Amino acid sequence: MEPPTKGKRLILFPVPLEGHINPMLKLANLLYSKSFSITIIHTQFNSPNPSLHPHFTFQSIPDGLSETEASPKDIILLFSLFNTKCVQPFKECLSSLLSEEPVACLISDSIFHFTQSVAESFKLPRIVFETGSMTCYAVFTHFPLLREKGYLPVTQDSQPERAVKELPPLRIKDLPVIPKSDQEKHFELCVLIVTKIAASDGVIFNTFRDLEEQGLETLQKQYPNLTVFPIGPFHKCVPEEASSSTSDQSCISWLNTQAPNSVIYVSFGTIAAITKAQFLEIAWGLGNSNQPFLWVVRPGLVHGSNWLEPLPKGFLENLNGRGHIVKWAPQKEVLAHPSVGAFWTHNGWNSTLESVCEGVPMICLPCFSDQLVLARYVSKVWKIGLQFENEIERGEIEGTIRKLMEEKEGGEIRDRSMKLMEKANVCCRPGGSSYQCLDGLVEHILSFD
Ligand code: UDX
Repeated sequence: MEPPTKGKRLILFPVPLEGHINPMLKLANLLYSKSFSITIIHTQFNSPNPSLHPHFTFQSIPDGLSETEASPKDIILLFSLFNTKCVQPFKECLSSLLSEEPVACLISDSIFHFTQSVAESFKLPRIVFETGSMTCYAVFTHFPLLREKGYLPVTQDSQPERAVKELPPLRIKDLPVIPKSDQEKHFELCVLIVTKIAASDGVIFNTFRDLEEQGLETLQKQYPNLTVFPIGPFHKCVPEEASSSTSDQSCISWLNTQAPNSVIYVSFGTIAAITKAQFLEIAWGLGNSNQPFLWVVRPGLVHGSNWLEPLPKGFLENLNGRGHIVKWAPQKEVLAHPSVGAFWTHNGWNSTLESVCEGVPMICLPCFSDQLVLARYVSKVWKIGLQFENEIERGEIEGTIRKLMEEKEGGEIRDRSMKLMEKANVCCRPGGSSYQCLDGLVEHILSFD
């Protein structure tokens, strides 16, 4: 029987950063599995590799970024450049695609807020993909209120421990700001994203209802006319494709030699950076913990260093194989490995969700924005991890690892993580919340006709 989608075409427009483009490509696969045809419009900066996705059509647009601009170091500046420099090339590309064949709708990353008015000018429905968590998005929607009540902007005079009583259990230090960035520009960006989502034809989240019930309720109360689609975790709902990054497969053979539930997997995602002093405290904390560890040190992770230069001479050799460091790991495979007992993470949304899906307890070291909210939720709401509260220091690292790996509290955290994993797995199966919601999304798209 012919599927109701009959190969109708969707145009997807991802933000060209790993934490955004990967989930968008997974979303594309999910929709392809429902027999939609997929076109991906992408910038030249960080363009995806079409040969890894031969079933999609790719259209490149010039982004006009100079070499210095094309960097996630100042993320707010980069996002603002995208929203000005991509407007005309995106319009032209869309116009040409629409002249070739009918398109059911545009699915745009929420960061590209300019796409709302472009879509309206073509009378093309626009659904937004918000790559972060619903919980954090619900905080962004409160930004004007938080400013009115004096919580924002966060300044040196703000009391970091003060409770934000409108959004429990957040404190001022958990608000999703970007330290050292222009808070006014960040505020403006968030307000624009939220306004353009409110004007859209619906918003998709890579999450599942059981995990973010509270965030979903908040959004539905605030925006009763907005249709919200929690249809994740994508990587559990659709088979994995080959990864575009070069993962170091030595991770898996090394993990194969370790005891079950013993290894601390350490990774801080694709953008976050730390100082040399922090890097050394982490190294000594891990070294002194007596626990085996697998650590992803991305080139560029440590300010002012290429890779491992700040490590004391002989550091790894002295651990007699207890530590393994790589530049990039096959993270989902690592988290699913039986030897991994904890994930020390920066709490980017993808990493947090991947950890939830494998029932791996977390140690949280958030760096900026949504990561701050998520770390608080992991430790105090879902209670599936512990958060470092103070300046990163080797003694506290050792103590936190011990608590999680050896003490009663750690055992309880592990039990809760396993229970949540079950729920993450059930939601994608027939009858599960995400499975049903995906059917709802398909119907919604078909109703645009
Ligand atoms: C960025 C923002 O920092 C984050 O707050 C937002 O939620 C998404 O975008 P990022 O640093 O990219 O996050 O982290 P995350 O969202 O966790 O995504 C990282 C992805 O890279 C994950 O899917 C992870 O599996 C993958 N990864 C990371 C690897 O496959 N191997 C690695 O070695 C490290």
